[in-house]
Formats: sequence, C-alpha cells, structure tokens
Amino acid sequence: MTWERINAGGIGYGGDYNPEQWDAATWRQDVDLMRRAGVTFVTVGVFSWSHLEPREGEYEFEWLDEVMDLLGGHGIAVDLATATATPPPWLSRAYPQILPVDVDGRTLWPGSRQAWCPTSPVFREKAVALAGRVAQRYADHPALAMWHVSNEYACHNLPCYCDTCAAAFRVWLARRYPDLDALDHAWGTAFWSQRYGDLEEVLPPRRTTTIANPTHVLDYRRFSSDALLDQFRAETAAVREHSPDVPLTTNFMTMTHFDHLDYHRWAPHVDVVSTDHYVVDTLPHRHAELAFSGDVTRGLAGGGPWMLMEHSTSAVNWQPTNPAKRSGQTLRDSLAHVARGADTVGYFQWRASRAGAEKWHSAMLPHAGADSARFREVCELGAVLGRLRGVAGSRVEAPVAILHDTQARWAAEGPAMPDSALGQVTTGQEIHRALRAMGVSADLLHPDVDLSGYDVLVVPTLYLVTDENARRIGQAARAGAHVLVTFFSGVVDEHDHVRLGGYPGAFADLLGVRVEEFDPLLPGDVVALAGGGSGSAWTEHVTLASEAEAAVLDSYASGRQAGRPAMTRRDLPGGGSAWYCSTLPDEETLRGLLAGVLDAAGVAHAALPDGLEIVRRTDRTTTWTFALNHAPAAVRVPCTGHDLVSGREITEPFDLEAGGVAVLARARA
Ligand code: GLA
Ligand code: ZN
Repeated sequence: MTWERINAGGIGYGGDYNPEQWDAATWRQDVDLMRRAGVTFVTVGVFSWSHLEPREGEYEFEWLDEVMDLLGGHGIAVDLATATATPPPWLSRAYPQILPVDVDGRTLWPGSRQAWCPTSPVFREKAVALAGRVAQRYADHPALAMWHVSNEYACHNLPCYCDTCAAAFRVWLARRYPDLDALDHAWGTAFWSQRYGDLEEVLPPRRTTTIANPTHVLDYRRFSSDALLDQFRAETAAVREHSPDVPLTTNFMTMTHFDHLDYHRWAPHVDVVSTDHYVVDTLPHRHAELAFSGDVTRGLAGGGPWMLMEHSTSAVNWQPTNPAKRSGQTLRDSLAHVARGADTVGYFQWRASRAGAEKWHSAMLPHAGADSARFREVCELGAVLGRLRGVAGSRVEAPVAILHDTQARWAAEGPAMPDSALGQVTTGQEIHRALRAMGVSADLLHPDVDLSGYDVLVVPTLYLVTDENARRIGQAARAGAHVLVTFFSGVVDEHDHVRLGGYPGAFADLLGVRVEEFDPLLPGDVVALAGGGSGSAWTEHVTLASEAEAAVLDSYASGRQAGRPAMTRRDLPGGGSAWYCSTLPDEETLRGLLAGVLDAAGVAHAALPDGLEIVRRTDRTTTWTFALNHAPAAVRVPCTGHDLVSGREITEPFDLEAGGVAVLARARA
C-alpha cells in the first residue's frame, strides 16, 4: 500500500496537530504557517476522545470536519488517529474496571493518559466503537492519507497486573502449552515448590517476597505484548471495515530505553512501520543511540523506508533537566533519521501547548511564535527536505547484520542473573557504535528473518536463542558468512532453560570453544588482555574444543581468567569463519576485532574522524551520502557530490562545520 500522499511524493514533513487546544482563528493561522514551513502532513486527533465523544454514545464530529476540510483545502495530508489512546473521564467513572493495576496491586487512576488495562473487554468495546465511528465518518474525506491507530501502545500501561489480565494470561498460557505439565516443565516449577495443580492458581508475576520465577516473568512479558497486539488488531479491524484501502500504522517506540513490546511480532500488522524517537541528553553516545534506533526501525520495515512519526525540534519535558537543541541540531537530528531510511520527518508537536502536561515540550511553532530562530530552522528544514525529494524510496545498503531480539533482551534482563547490568541491547549497541565509527553500516535484524546475503553476522550477547535459529546462524557460517558471537550467547532455549555441557550452548560447536564458568567483573574493574587492550564488564573461563579447530586471537593477561583465551577464531571449510569474544573489549580492541572479521569477509572499512557519521542511501541511479558532524569542531569529510543541504558542488574532501550536515548526491557509476 502506498503512503506517498503523506510524503507528497518526497520526504514527508509534519507532526502531531492538536487543534482542540486552540480556537478556530488559530487553526487558520496554523495552516498558513504549515504551508510556509513546507509541512506535507499532520497527525490529528490522537488525544481527542473526550472531544469526539463527550458523553457515552454521543458524538461531536463537527469541529473535526472543519479541521479536516481546512487542512485538505490547504493541501496538507492527514494521518488521522482513531482517538483511542486515552479514554475520557466519563468512561473510567462509569467503568472503573478499565483502570490498570501496578505490580503492588495499586490502581493507576485517570488524570494523566493511557489509563486503561490492555485486556479490559469494556475498554476494547468502547475503543473499537470509536475507531469504527471515526473511520466511517472520514473514510472518504479527501484529506485522509493514513490511519494512526491509538498512540505509542504500552508507553504507560504495561505491564498491568489486574485480575482481568490474570484471566487473560491463563487463556494465553492454555494456548501456548498443551497441558499443565508442559507449563510446569517450561517454568521449572520443581524449584521452590511452585508446581501448579490447576491453571487457576497461576497469577501475574506480582510483587513477590524475593526472586520471581524467571520464565513466569518472561512469559508475562510475552503475553503483555501480545495482549496489546490483540487490542491493536481489534481497533485496526474496525478501521479497515470502513476504509480498507488507506494505509494504516501505529507509532512504535524503538528508542532503546523502551522495551515493553516485541515489535518483530507487531510489524507484519502495520502497512507502514513508523516510530518515535527522542534524544536522551544524559546518554554518553546519544547520536549512536539514535542511529541504532533508526537501524532497528529499518530492520522492522524489512530494509525499506519507514516513517519517523515523532521527534523533537528542541527540548523535551520528561527528563530532570531538558536542554534546548543547539542551533543546527534540529536539522542534523532529523537528517540522521533520513540517513537511516526514514522517508518522513515528523514531530511532536506542531504548535507548543500553553497549558497541560506538555506545555514545556518544544514544538515546530514555539511559544515565541513564528518570529523565532526555531521556527526559521523549521522552515529551513522544510526547504532542505524539499530538495531531498529524490531520496524517497531509496535504500540503505549494509553488508553487516547484527541480531536484535527483544525476547532475548527480556530474558537477559530477568531476575537474578550473573550480571544485571549487561544485556542484548548494550552489547549490540557497542558493536553498532564501533562499526559506525569505522564507516560500516549494519542492519539490525531479528534472528528469525532471512540472514543469507550478509557477509558478516554479529550475534551480540544473544542469551536466549531457539535451536532452530542457532542452527540457521551456523548454517550461514558454513555457507561462507563470517560470524562474530559475543559472550553470554546461546546459553538458554526459549523457556530460559540452560543448555548443559558447557556454554555458549547453542554456539559451542560452531565456535569450537567450551566455556565452563561465567565470571562477570565488578563495576569499574578491567582486565588486561595479552594483545595490549583490556576487557570490562564480563569474562569467562574459556577452553578450546581442540586446537586444530579454533585459534586463540587474544587471551586474558590479568584477573581470575589470566592465561585463558579471551577471543578465538575458527575457520570453516566453506570459506566462512566463526569468532568468539568472551569479554567487552575497550573501543580500540573492539574495532581491531571487528576489522579482523570485516577483512576476512572482504568488507571495506575506514576509521572516520571522531564524531563524523557517514551513511549512504542508494537507488538505481543515485547514491546519497549523508555526512553528519556530531563533534564540536569541524571535521574533514572524504566524500564528494552535489550537497543538497548547502547547494554546493563538492569535488574534493571538505571541512564540515561543527554540528553540520551534508547530503551529497552523485550519479552511480
Ligand atoms: C510521545 C507521545 C507524544 C508526546 C511525546 C513527548 O512520543 O506520543 O504524545 O507525549 O512523547 O516527547
Ligand atoms: Zn489489566
């Protein structure tokens, strides 16, 4: 299904628009200013339920009719929300059973947003009814270009521990396990007298005396994600009944600090993958996190273009301290997403609110009004995106795949682990950041998807993996791929049961190593490596299956594992290789290791100056090189082409100013 109307055939530009906060005269100013800024689309109605259905079963659509007509009349496409993200006060008053309950059994009351239980039948009925009404009314409206179902599912209401969820969990379990014995086996209930005699005895993993059963916790996370997916699908069905041909999305949150939903299971149910991303100011490598999130999103979109539904022009309001973006950063941050495959640049929100919970969140049109540096930057960005029209539909080409699995993350972050600090995402991010500094693009892929076609596969701390996926990874290596596995991978199966006989369980044979014991390091501790580098966070007691099979690349020179292998390499008959790294190496050592793997695979790499990010998008005829300087000083960019940002023709390596960005277009040879 095409979504080019949102993007007006190029890179789309716009944001959330909340007209119910303003009077009709302001709406008219808004559409004029939107046109001035180059806005192609707005998302309308996300939080409009109390305005659309002010009393149960009584609908007031006239104001939205007027807004839709006004936007359509000005050539602005609408991504229309089902308005179901937050129920109105009358609903929770009449049906208090819809309210979510926290781990301690406390009700989460209305007064903020998203105060609804993911499995509440009443909430579902009311939300589905509204979604259907909205779809029926606007299905044929000329301004309608996309459906936006709910908003950021799970942002605040997951997990819910109420009795309704408990009952729904039991239904989910009955589908997953053939009988109670299978459940008891999967959860390992022989430990601590947890064996169940009746499914009715099963509860959500509410606050316990001490360590909870890890597989119980893991299954509850799986169930919770699936429960909201059911809710999404119910709302979607109501929309499609009236409007089967208009593309539909719901905005994911692929920022790495959010992990409530398994988007790999959600992505097949949207027509367009869209996501929201906010830069977290306290992160040490915040633009590396942005890049990682973009690549995760592209993976969900099957490598094709995706929508950046929301980010911020300047400060957010949900950190303890919320710095403004420096001049130029609005442009650079948005193009950083485009570089990684976004064909839409959206913001929360169009006009800064004067009241309410988000009045201190930046917007495209700030409190200061149109006569402001920020709005001028917003207009400049609109003009730049206009010049990037040709980029739309092109793809990012990446020779490396890094595996990324939310369920493996959940398991690794479960209770009472060898180390609570290090999980799937952390290691994946470190490797992704190192590759980025070497000018190498990577796709972040779920282990279920087709991995053929990649010269290099990285398996970062994939603690949980199914036998089938471990087999497919091994098969890729035997077919000629170069596979790097890092510590604490392949350890457990999908039930979080340890594979016996030596770690890294599922990958031991492939790698030709056998790990006898894990040995995490205390915070701040480092161990020396014989090659001159160091390792932190984690070490292992590694032995070689046989010296003929695997070679030691580096070993521990200090610490409890001194003398033992730290990194190994095994060459495989089919021309591929399997590498193991049992610690988190310092940056230089990690880059050296990655260089070894890339060289073995014949993948080009070159160290970039600190802070410079380079990503390429291509189509049949053109390559666009995005050069982004995140550093506080100018950097030399070793690329040429026609810069669509500055309009300059670049014929030799050039200096890109601090915080600057260039998009160099070149015909493909
Ligand atoms: C999310 C929500 C928006 C808004 C922003 C603020 O992305 O979808 O409604 O609250 O966060 O950053
Ligand atoms: Zn609930």
